Amino acid sequence: MSDVILTLENITKEFPGVKALENVSFDLRKNEVHVLVGENGAGKSTLMKVLTGVYQPNDGKIFLHGKEVRFLNTRQSQENGIAIIFQEFNLIPNLTVVQNMFLGRELRNKLGLIDMAAQVREAKKLLDFLRAEIDPYTKVRDLGVAQQQLVEVAKALLVDAEIIVMDEPTAALSEREIETLFMTIKDLQKNGVSIIYISHRMQELRLVGDRITVLRDGKTVGTRDMAHFDLDEIIKMMVGRDVNKERVRKVNTSTDEVVLEVKNLSVNGSLSDISLRVNRGEIVSLAGLVGSGRTELAQAIFGVTKRDAGEVRILDEQSGISPVKSVNQKMAFISEDRKRFGLALNLPIKVNITHASLQQLFPSGIVNEKKENAVALDFRQRLNIVTPDVDREVLVLSGGNQQKVILAKWLCTNSNFMIFDEPTRGIDVGAKDEIHQLMNQLAERGVAILMISSDLPEIMTLSDRVYVMRDGKIVQELNGYQTSQEEIISYAVGGDIL
Ligand SMILES: Nc1ncnc2c1ncn2[C@@H]1O[C@H](COP(=O)(O)OP(=O)(O)OP(=O)(O)O)[C@@H](O)[C@H]1O
Ligand SMILES: [Mg+2]
Repeated sequence: MSDVILTLENITKEFPGVKALENVSFDLRKNEVHVLVGENGAGKSTLMKVLTGVYQPNDGKIFLHGKEVRFLNTRQSQENGIAIIFQEFNLIPNLTVVQNMFLGRELRNKLGLIDMAAQVREAKKLLDFLRAEIDPYTKVRDLGVAQQQLVEVAKALLVDAEIIVMDEPTAALSEREIETLFMTIKDLQKNGVSIIYISHRMQELRLVGDRITVLRDGKTVGTRDMAHFDLDEIIKMMVGRDVNKERVRKVNTSTDEVVLEVKNLSVNGSLSDISLRVNRGEIVSLAGLVGSGRTELAQAIFGVTKRDAGEVRILDEQSGISPVKSVNQKMAFISEDRKRFGLALNLPIKVNITHASLQQLFPSGIVNEKKENAVALDFRQRLNIVTPDVDREVLVLSGGNQQKVILAKWLCTNSNFMIFDEPTRGIDVGAKDEIHQLMNQLAERGVAILMISSDLPEIMTLSDRVYVMRDGKIVQELNGYQTSQEEIISYAVGGDIL
């Protein structure tokens, strides 16, 4: 086709012990959004890294406007008009937003000095274009995950790109920001930009894409026009079998025994007068927009941040003092910021999985390798962690599979109370179900669960009760079996869009 601007032809990429891509072909047309899907570990990110020069392929060719190209690094691909928003953020926490955006490509004045004013102007312009309310002078470490994601997008837009690769750009965003990002994508398209878009959020694909290509086990399964989008077919192409899309509704295992009680908790500047409880056997959700205070609340409960007023009690014992104390009180916190809290990337998968349960697994204090292996292999099987063995470093796993290792780590502990902040973010359709079932089983065993999720169907599937947050307050408590997505949204936004 004449309007094809990019072609990947028979790309093969091998890592030690893993054939990540095998003869993968893919093309991109002018002005199109081409969606790329596949299970965790299917090879999506690897393919994009081959395109942008992060990896060199073992075999295969890349054609840009009909001419064969090969990029040795991302700078070269940028110079040729290809930008990428990586799945893992590449921001430096101690630098400001604007410093991060211009790192390595600072704007300079006539004297050769960094032109801060021009950089800030440019940064503001792009953040405005993204409708992101972020001050360019903020340090990245003070941003939430959603805001970091938007900064990554802004950074990619700085390169005057003709092709933008977005590797799960919406993973950390909630409905509102996703809509905004889609508007941005439409604007970009109008300006002649083509986009390769990777996502596990099946509901959004049709809204954003023109065509969709499915990868499975490092091979192309097929490409379809969005006009004939059939979700069942796509999922079947992804996982190679029929998947029961009907989610299993949590059975009501709630009891009257209060496990977590929060009374009049306030954190200056972010939370005011929060009271809530979670009972044994219950899954309670915190719904709300990004920035409504959900993660701040979880952090205050776990003792990551200090509270200014109020009380946190776990099984009627004073709590929320420090993370270490919380772990000792048999609490677990699966944070949304997994890079910062959660994984030792350079250690083997099995060590990461058993790390938080050593006392319980090995009361004698001596790690029994056979048992450690068995535990890790069991989780590999249950969560379908794609890896030949559990001795590998977590670092070499795909994004979604790293996520599964964190979940395994905390599922392995014997906690009474667990906080799950966006538990299935970046997780593929098949594994999502498995994780939901595991959470259900935990509740059945009597664990009290507090879940934060921006995925409304997930909230509808799992919650016994829902607290809706807005502007640092709980504005409504809802019965999970009786509420609807529309009702939750209307409280989350304050009733101004419905
Ligand atoms: N640097 C590396 N070293 C070794 N193996 C790797 C490396 N990068 C990726 N892999 C392996 O290649 C395979 C494909 O990984 P990739 O990250 O492309 O998956 P993905 O489709 O992006 O998955 P996800 O949806 O989880 O992000 C996986 O088995 C992964 O473990
Ligand atoms: Mg990936």
